Amino acid sequence: MLRLVIFGRQGAGKGTQSEALAEHYGAPHISTGDILREAVASGTAFGLKAKEFMDAGQLLPDEVMLGVVADRLAEADVREHGFLLDGYPRTVGQAEALVGLTPIDVALNLEVPEQTVLERLSSRRVCEGCGRNYSVSVRPGHDWECDSCGGKVVQRDDDKPAAIAQRLATYRDETVPTIEWFDSKGLLVNVDGLGTPEDVTERLFAAIDERLSADPERRTHP
Ligand code: AP5
Ligand code: MG
Repeated sequence: MLRLVIFGRQGAGKGTQSEALAEHYGAPHISTGDILREAVASGTAFGLKAKEFMDAGQLLPDEVMLGVVADRLAEADVREHGFLLDGYPRTVGQAEALVGLTPIDVALNLEVPEQTVLERLSSRRVCEGCGRNYSVSVRPGHDWECDSCGGKVVQRDDDKPAAIAQRLATYRDETVPTIEWFDSKGLLVNVDGLGTPEDVTERLFAAIDERLSADPERRTHP
């Protein structure tokens, strides 16, 4: 059982790395962004409202996100295997709500400079079907089919310049204090997010394993 949250500014590689960590540690990857994009794709009233916030690069209200996350954490796979939480919490209010729901073993902060994430976000393409990430810097072109599910691979609506600028500003204003909150609780581990995805994954494995071996009970509720 591993209960982990992963931070990093937009485009730092949270989704990419969470997939590798989920496979290695056997804990489900929970991306609040992916959950919201599924709601958008299904065309529900909630999804339509969420899309307005997301396309503007703004956060949904804390109480709405708490409901989304509490429902997911109550599912059987999480109770059995733990979770890799990607994209939640993003505000100090969300962090306080989260630790009211569950203990956290470790909070990772994937450090990537702003200039690098701007390049990654403008190169990112995403499968509409399963959410898998691609990069045109690795695989040029457009109108691809997803290698995993055959779905259409497109640019995310919030990967346009105005939305990216707003998302990075929100990160500075809301999420940096949230990361500092986890640091103040002794739960934060900073990890260099530069290099190939495989290099970063190896660093994350080392950071998690060191953290867990230093804490035999693996329960560090603040
Ligand atoms: P969300 O989907 O979580 O977006 P985000 O935080 O902006 O993060 P990203 O998904 O953009 O980046 P990532 O770190 O996952 O990077 P990735 O692995 O894709 O949230 C979207 C929206 O939903 C929010 O703006 C908000 O509106 C709403 N929302 C979600 N959670 C919320 C919450 N808790 N509260 C309120 N609102 C919420 O990598 C990026 C690219 O780089 C990819 O193309 C990838 O292939 C490439 N790449 C990855 N690693 C490397 C590497 N090492 N080298 C080169 N390229 C790499
Ligand atoms: Mg992501």
